[in-house]
Amino acid sequence: MHESKISGCKIINLPRIQTESGDITSLNNLENIPFETHRVYYLYDIPNRADRGGHAHKKLFQLVVAVSGSFDIELFDGKEKVKYTLNQPDQGLLIIPGIWRNLNNFSGGGICLVLASHEYDESDYIREIEEYRNYVS
Ligand code: TYD
Repeated sequence: MHESKISGCKIINLPRIQTESGDITSLNNLENIPFETHRVYYLYDIPNRADRGGHAHKKLFQLVVAVSGSFDIELFDGKEKVKYTLNQPDQGLLIIPGIWRNLNNFSGGGICLVLASHEYDESDYIREIEEYRNYVS
C-alpha cells in the first residue's frame, strides 16, 4: 500500500519580475520549489491531439510549468481525479510521487517545462494503469 494523495499536489505561484521589456521568472533551488532539482526537461513541438504522460513515478517530485501556451494535466491517485489547465508561465503544478498523470489538449506552440527531483530513471516509472492500481491499493 502506497500513500500518495492528490491533495499533496498543488499550484505554486512563481515569482514574476516585471520589466518594461518583458517579464522574468527565476526559480532558485529550494527557495521557490519544495525539492532539490536534479533535472530539467521540456516538451515542445507537441501535436494538439497528443496524449503525454500516462504514467506515475515512485519517488520523483516534479514541478510542471506551461512556459508557453497551454495544456491540461489530469491527476489520479487511485481514488480521486483532478484536472488542471496550465496556461501561466508564473504558475507551476507540483506533482508528488505516486500520482498518475495524463497531459493533453496542448495549444499550438505549447511548451511544458518540468523541473524534477531526480535524474532520468526508467525503473522509477509505473507505465501500466493496472500495475498502478495495485501499487496504490
Ligand atoms: P516519457 O517520460 O514517457 O514522456 P511523457 O511523459 O512526456 O509522455 O518519456 C518519453 C521518452 O523520452 C522515453 O523514451 C524516455 C525518454 N526520456 C529521457 O530519455 N529522459 C528524460 O528525462 C525523460 C523525461 C524522458
